[in-house]
Amino acid sequence: MRFEGKRVVVTGGASGIGKATVEAFIAEGAQVMMGDLNSEAGDAMAADSRFDNRLAFQTTDVCDVDNLKSLIDNAASHFGGIDILFNNAGAGGASETIDEITAEGWDTTMNLLLRSVALGTRFAVDHMKEAGGGVIINTSSINAHEAGWGPVAYATAKAAVRHLSKISAAQLAKFNIRVNSISPGFIMTNIFANSFEDPTEAQQVDTAIRAISPMAQPVSRSGAADDIAQAVLYLCSDQGGFVNGTDLTVDGGITVGHRHSWDENSPGLLDLIQENVGGNS
Ligand SMILES: NC(=O)c1ccc[n+]([C@@H]2O[C@H](COP(=O)([O-])OP(=O)(O)OC[C@H]3O[C@@H](n4cnc5c(N)ncnc54)[C@H](O)[C@@H]3O)[C@@H](O)[C@H]2O)c1
Repeated sequence: MRFEGKRVVVTGGASGIGKATVEAFIAEGAQVMMGDLNSEAGDAMAADSRFDNRLAFQTTDVCDVDNLKSLIDNAASHFGGIDILFNNAGAGGASETIDEITAEGWDTTMNLLLRSVALGTRFAVDHMKEAGGGVIINTSSINAHEAGWGPVAYATAKAAVRHLSKISAAQLAKFNIRVNSISPGFIMTNIFANSFEDPTEAQQVDTAIRAISPMAQPVSRSGAADDIAQAVLYLCSDQGGFVNGTDLTVDGGITVGHRHSWDENSPGLLDLIQENVGGNS
């Protein structure tokens, strides 16, 4: 019960990583206010008797500045303050490559993934100052570390979230507020299927992703939302009290290095050279 008496705000709490984190915080004694676009799923969670009235939900679009401020201010008045903020809501955003991206796609993606994190932090800090401190966790991604995992606007926003977290940690330390980011790897949630409008295509993508996910990284099982939730709780806990301004990658090792370093069936450069030499001799 590391979070008994703690007052937590989670954005994007109605599904995937956010939902698992809401559940984990409540299991350890916290009270949670969650905001999400998905009213149906949010209302159903708030009505779930397992949460023993310790979960409140407000329909929120984190791209709407007034909406986001209202979520945070209402959480503070509902609970009498805020101790922890998890800026987590997100989606794949604009799918175009840099040679095709539109201004609208770029701006929409940045507002969802980056501006919401900056302003969520901005609004929560007023309440955390009153509480004498707090902890903020921002969801970045392995896209912030390497190319090749997602679209350019998404990856750029997530890299900026990682850096924003570092700067926020520096600027907010004097208020006793710690800020870190978390970089999930390949985690089995709805985010991939949700990028497809056609339900049949979405279902096919979901099935394919679940089939390949155990083979995607050195740890030979799928990444689960709770893997990220437990890391978020560590960063917010007293045990993580000396961790500040850093990014915690939780990816089963998908970013350890080239695939051939851990997958003996994947040819490395030396294998390719060897094969080529063999072919010519
Ligand atoms: N699943 C992964 O592999 C993975 C990897 C790296 C980073 N992430 C990040 O983790 C976070 C959570 O994603 P997830 O995988 O749990 O996906 P998910 O689709 O299961 O959950 C995302 C939640 O955010 C909500 N949301 C989307 N847009 C919103 C908005 N404008 N306002 C409020 N809520 C909104 C959705 O309704 C949904 O409930 C995202 O920031 C995502 O970019 C996910």
